[in-house]
Amino acid sequence: MGVLDYLDAELQSLRDQGLYRPLRVLHDEQRAHTVVDHRSVVNLSSNNYLGLTTHPRLRERAREALDRLGVGTGSVRTIAGTMAIHVELEERLAAFKKTEAAVVFQSGFTANAGTVSSILGKDDVIVSDALNHASIIDGARLSRAAIKVFPHRDVTAARALLEGTPRGTRTLLITDGVFSMDGDLGPLPALCDLAEEFGSIMMVDDAHASGVFGTNGRGTVDHFGVHGRVQVQVGTLSKAIGALGGYVAGPRVLIEFLHRRARPFLFSTSHPPSVAATCLAAIDVLEQEPQWMAQLWDNTRFFKAGLQAAGFDTGLSESPITPIMVGDGALAMTFSDRLFERGVFALGIGFPTVPQGKARIRTIVTATHTRDELQFALDVLAKTGRELGVI
Ligand SMILES: Cc1ncc(COP(=O)(O)O)c(C=O)c1O
Repeated sequence: MGVLDYLDAELQSLRDQGLYRPLRVLHDEQRAHTVVDHRSVVNLSSNNYLGLTTHPRLRERAREALDRLGVGTGSVRTIAGTMAIHVELEERLAAFKKTEAAVVFQSGFTANAGTVSSILGKDDVIVSDALNHASIIDGARLSRAAIKVFPHRDVTAARALLEGTPRGTRTLLITDGVFSMDGDLGPLPALCDLAEEFGSIMMVDDAHASGVFGTNGRGTVDHFGVHGRVQVQVGTLSKAIGALGGYVAGPRVLIEFLHRRARPFLFSTSHPPSVAATCLAAIDVLEQEPQWMAQLWDNTRFFKAGLQAAGFDTGLSESPITPIMVGDGALAMTFSDRLFERGVFALGIGFPTVPQGKARIRTIVTATHTRDELQFALDVLAKTGRELGVI
């Protein structure tokens, strides 16, 4: 008997349910058409919305920073790990998001978890959408605040939770801007109204909205015209921006506080300068090359229409994330495997990432998919969906 045998039992249970999956390995760049597990596939699985992972301007800036500033920082931000290029990126992000200041974290995950856990404490209350990202949930747990969850996008239920909280209690109202598994949007204007009425701090996780929604990809706060009404805006540099990292944009007092209290900022080494340089180049691209966002939305409309015409249930998606609802977890995995054998890489998502009985194939198109690639994927999806009785 080994002390880790219980882990093996858990893994076996996943295998028995048909939910165990080995990691897929890319043998080429992260692109719309790439090589995964030695198979050439149309890639519908990445968050590389604008195709920036391989954009020449980003590569060039990364290379230049590598040569000029080295490969790493060797320190956390608060000791010797703040380089001028980190500060430049933060100033640029604040200007881009139209906020007083911004702070960059190692990832979107640490931005959410580090922020929620540090700005709230055990006497406070967090009112959170049921489908908010895991990093928000972990941050909420670490904060030791009471966590009250409202059904997905249900503003009336959120109001009832706030009404049930004693007056004078500090509250945080929090939602994803774009929900990562369903592709629908948080009801920002109504939630901002609620936050103002109850004196709550309003926070939005815009991981999937940066580079996708709003003017030049400024996110859902810009898309809904609620600038100045959301005190804490989180974004990621790991998805449409094409590199790695997360950030918080907001009032200076918030950012100054996070510098001193957010644990990932205090206790984990900062980004290599090449990452900061890449992100700076990405913001240049967002501002100067609007064609990528236009193409992303063209492709999104084309692909969604194709899925719907084939008879798939695509849920309530309003973004380039389009789920294909399947229901049963094992069926979603079989569907995904068969797609892969036929040259389409689209992952099956099951419990616990989504609720039991709501398994799905999750698809994301990017700006750099060609029409031929998308049509090929649609044909394979329809053929496989019919074979498996999904449509
Ligand atoms: C909604 C949401 N928030 C935060 C994150 C974390 O971002 P990152 O990958 O930069 O850690 C993700 C995805 O990974 C996400 O989907």
